[in-house]
Amino acid sequence: MKEKFQIEIKEANGKLGVMLPGLGAVSTTVIAGVMAIQKGIGKPIGSLTQMGRIRLGKRDEKRNPLISEVVPLSNLEDIQFAAWDIFEDNAYDAAVKAGVLEKVLVDQLKDELSKIKPMKAVFEKNWVKRLDGTFVKKAATKYDLCEMLREDIRNFKAQNNLDRVVMIWSASTEIYQEYDPVYATKESFIKGMKENHPAIAPSMLYAWAAISEGVPYANGAPNLSADMPAMYEFADEMNVPLAGKDFKTGQTLMKTILAPGLKARMLGLDGWFSTNILGNRDGEVLDDPDNFKTKEVSKLSVLEHVLQPDIYPDLYKDLYHKIRINYYPPRRDNKESWDNIDIFGWLGYPMQIKVNFLCRDSILAAPIVLDLALFLDLAGRSGFKGIQEWMSFYFKSPIHAPNLYPEHDVFIQLMKLKNTLRVMAGEEEITHLGLDYYM
Ligand SMILES: NC(=O)c1ccc[n+]([C@@H]2O[C@H](COP(=O)([O-])OP(=O)(O)OC[C@H]3O[C@@H](n4cnc5c(N)ncnc54)[C@H](O)[C@@H]3O)[C@@H](O)[C@H]2O)c1
Repeated sequence: MKEKFQIEIKEANGKLGVMLPGLGAVSTTVIAGVMAIQKGIGKPIGSLTQMGRIRLGKRDEKRNPLISEVVPLSNLEDIQFAAWDIFEDNAYDAAVKAGVLEKVLVDQLKDELSKIKPMKAVFEKNWVKRLDGTFVKKAATKYDLCEMLREDIRNFKAQNNLDRVVMIWSASTEIYQEYDPVYATKESFIKGMKENHPAIAPSMLYAWAAISEGVPYANGAPNLSADMPAMYEFADEMNVPLAGKDFKTGQTLMKTILAPGLKARMLGLDGWFSTNILGNRDGEVLDDPDNFKTKEVSKLSVLEHVLQPDIYPDLYKDLYHKIRINYYPPRRDNKESWDNIDIFGWLGYPMQIKVNFLCRDSILAAPIVLDLALFLDLAGRSGFKGIQEWMSFYFKSPIHAPNLYPEHDVFIQLMKLKNTLRVMAGEEEITHLGLDYYM
């Protein structure tokens, strides 16, 4: 018999600060959304923490409470947002520019949104070539810049009388970066910051600042940020939860819903061609080949791990997987994606599936940011530290223990997330076994 975990969770007393590097489409959609929900002019559709229920016990017990009734989560009215950006626009102006939410809605929130003014960012143009930052911090070394971010965190906490803070990277995708020895240990990383090592990106400085201040950190973009041994080591030492990378929205969400279903029925795949058009600032940044490469690697890894061609060679070893993203300004945040999926069945007979998803990227991302903020905070209050694989559900490239492969199947991810919540609540895990019916 497995020993039962005893998890003591501190109550969610006081206010929770949610700090967002990047005040663009995603950030303003989540901030305005939370305000609208509090005013009763919108519903938190897409958010597990706000709408999700969880089955407890056996099916005939009929216990299906809200997740928020089972684990202590912060209330929306206790959340206070802050952001950094390379442009000085406040959250109202940034939301209007992003154009995700209708202006009539944003105007109803103008007073509150205008109060959220970004702090100066840590930014280097060579990591995001398509943007020219004007509102940026200056210091002699990356170490000093990191110290300035730490000071921002402390000031935000003190000035708003916050009990706890979490941070979620919602800024632009940085250019592709391979593993570098500077990421190996805490010592090498600190030395690297002091010597302005070129492989240390701004997103890494935000992550390091968060961990240094005991602030749980998640990365919503595909760039490395906290995904390196030095950060895992430091997060463990500081008892800080980490999660990432790359919010799972749009096309990849569809992929991780469809691919496990096809695999479950032992249907084969010859090819999966995915193309997108989008016209927001994210699309403009991703129009640069080096930034696109970061996104491409993140999106490509999904099928490989879901389908496991090494153990199902007859079905998946010859899969041709191609992804394109095209910047097309007229479409703004309303991305359109097309997937052509070449599958085969019994005796190898070919079939095709076409998916045309007219989605709204930030509308899908906003509830993820809210859930991550609340779950990261819950993890912190539960004494969890290091990589939080139970939050893989929300990411395209889940960070994972170095000796394990990432879990991409959205249904396994959901089971892991819910079982983690059950265990936190002192309830039994659900295995869906039910052997007592047949024996
Ligand atoms: N919207 C989605 O569905 C989705 C899904 C997965 C990942 N993402 C990622 O989330 C991030 C945000 O997406 P978005 O649509 O809001 O993009 P966006 O371009 O609208 O916003 C990003 C903001 O970050 C700012 N920025 C850039 N570098 C910065 C830095 N170093 N520090 C502080 N601010 C900085 C930019 O000025 C911009 O305002 C992107 O990396 C995107 O790839 C988005």
